[in-house]
Amino acid sequence: METYPFTSALVTGASSGIGEAMAHLLGQAGIPTVVVARRTDRLEELAKRYPSFEVLSADLNSAEGLAAVEQRILSVTSPIDLVVNNAGFGTSGLFHEIEPDRLHDEISLNVQALTRLSNAALRAMLPRGRGFLLNVSSVASFQAAPRLAVYAATKAYVTSLTESLHEEVRGTGVHVTALCPGLTKTEFQSVSSTEAYATSFPGFVWLKVDEVAAAGLADVAKGKALSVPGAIYKGLASIAGVTPRGLTRRLSSMVQRNPK
Ligand SMILES: NC(=O)c1ccc[n+]([C@@H]2O[C@H](COP(=O)([O-])OP(=O)(O)OC[C@H]3O[C@@H](n4cnc5c(N)ncnc54)[C@H](OP(=O)(O)O)[C@@H]3O)[C@@H](O)[C@H]2O)c1
Repeated sequence: METYPFTSALVTGASSGIGEAMAHLLGQAGIPTVVVARRTDRLEELAKRYPSFEVLSADLNSAEGLAAVEQRILSVTSPIDLVVNNAGFGTSGLFHEIEPDRLHDEISLNVQALTRLSNAALRAMLPRGRGFLLNVSSVASFQAAPRLAVYAATKAYVTSLTESLHEEVRGTGVHVTALCPGLTKTEFQSVSSTEAYATSFPGFVWLKVDEVAAAGLADVAKGKALSVPGAIYKGLASIAGVTPRGLTRRLSSMVQRNPK
């Protein structure tokens, strides 16, 4: 079993996928964790298994839900040592064909809620001189992604914000990390209508959800700025950094053109 330096945690999007896998790792390590999502029944299942868990049912796209989670992060009597901003979703397809309300919700969750909760986390942690903030981004943040345009743009924001914050808090005892996973089988594919990726991308590019979760928690514990799980994605991330921008954009467009 992993040991972590966190004394307590809060994970958004803990009802499925990467967030749920992180909740299990934290629960197995005996770390009291606040689990946040809209599907309360799933959070209660987690709390049944790990009695130190606290269920916080909240829609992060509602003002009340966001305020409740902010307040919980800011609690002085029951402080949160690790905040994981994991809740997020994607839209796919041609930009002009996607419902504008859906794009609004995507930006609201991936960007707006994550920014407010990051702000709350650092406001709470910096006076204590310790703490950990893990923001879940994506390898889609490293280049433009036609047909995932808004999703990739939201994640570019997350990686940029998180790297900036990593430097802002350097030397304070607070650690800020962006987790940038590649393709990982979760409910993400059904929510983002990218189920076709399961057959269009070969097996070796798919990451295991438990490995992604473990890498993110290990890397924020180590104080890394970026966590890119899997050798293949580490390689792609470094290539994207040195490849001419126009070429990366065209290659990305070719990958997304026929996802079936
Ligand atoms: N899977 C991938 O291939 C992949 C790759 C790179 C990055 N990511 C990122 O990883 C993160 C987790 O995604 P996942 O793959 O684990 O997807 P997932 O299985 O669909 O999980 C998404 C989580 O977010 C929660 N959520 C969604 N909308 C919410 C809202 N309005 N308020 C509160 N919680 C909300 C969901 O819970 P409820 O529905 O119960 O609210 C769920 O727990 C996301 O930020 C995603 O962009 C995923």
